[in-house]
Amino acid sequence: MTGTTPALPLLPGAHLLSVEELGAQHISGLLDLAESYVDLNRQVAKKRDLLRGRTMINLFYESSTRTQSSFELAGKRLGADVMNMSVGQSSVKKGETLIDTAMTLNAMRPDILVIRHADSGAAALLSRKVACSVINAGDGSHEHPSQALLDALTIRRRFGRIEGLTIAICGDILHSRVARSNILLLTKMGAHVRLVAPRTLLPRDIARLGVEIFNRMEEGLAGADVVMMLRLQLERMTGSFLPSTREFFHLYGLDHKKLALAKPGALVMHPGPMNRGVEIDSAVADDTERSLIQEQVEMGVAVRMAILDALSRQLSNSKGGTP
Ligand code: CP
Repeated sequence: MTGTTPALPLLPGAHLLSVEELGAQHISGLLDLAESYVDLNRQVAKKRDLLRGRTMINLFYESSTRTQSSFELAGKRLGADVMNMSVGQSSVKKGETLIDTAMTLNAMRPDILVIRHADSGAAALLSRKVACSVINAGDGSHEHPSQALLDALTIRRRFGRIEGLTIAICGDILHSRVARSNILLLTKMGAHVRLVAPRTLLPRDIARLGVEIFNRMEEGLAGADVVMMLRLQLERMTGSFLPSTREFFHLYGLDHKKLALAKPGALVMHPGPMNRGVEIDSAVADDTERSLIQEQVEMGVAVRMAILDALSRQLSNSKGGTP
């Protein structure tokens, strides 16, 4: 499938900023393309020259293990020159603004800028300032589109479909860009999405996204095909959201006893990094029969290769090679 030209564009434009802007046909097309990269990544020879001559910059203002390393591997496996910008050692430390930093990098004529930033809307803002394609690798509590795509690929490979599945997303929904992107993607693809969280960790008006809300795991997990746990984002909590992490684990932490409330054989996901013993018990996280966590990481590289492949098609179609 690699290198074939699909009938419909895989992305709505020159950037990947959110799941909100994607249609079901974009999502299906990207997942189909990613399948071919799963196969490629399992071979000894993983390299292609699709992005030969292209320059990709990873600009991460927040820490990352999975997203940054998988975008780097994805770019390198497709033949791009990849630069990881060390924000901590850059002129950001001297007070240079996001826009000035981006414009400086833009002057070096990259083709793709992958950005993670603590502010919601940062990636969209940059996309209006620079001449290259921008990929949102997580902006505040807004969106993390490549995470939702890799989660969807993981689910689709296990169940053969997304439509009709019941997926319970549990924990710190309020601060989670992963939750938001997953809600948007999974509902677009026809899944029944449930949110399970204490009231303090649910955004106001979230039900308008077409999800069911539960405040108790006993009710929210009943009959679920997939239980997706989220990291408790203590670093984003300025007020009092929880009595204690111990109490949180007691009520909302996923252990085998609570998992037994879901459908028999229900599968467990977590975007990582995990707080073991806070939102998930190690015995569940490491249960290879039930946990898809390592598979999610593997799918992350394939999905990011598919995103870069899709963007390269847009780049090739635009005048002068950059949008
Ligand atoms: N899931 C995720 O975004 O992980 P990282 O913060 O390690 O990139």
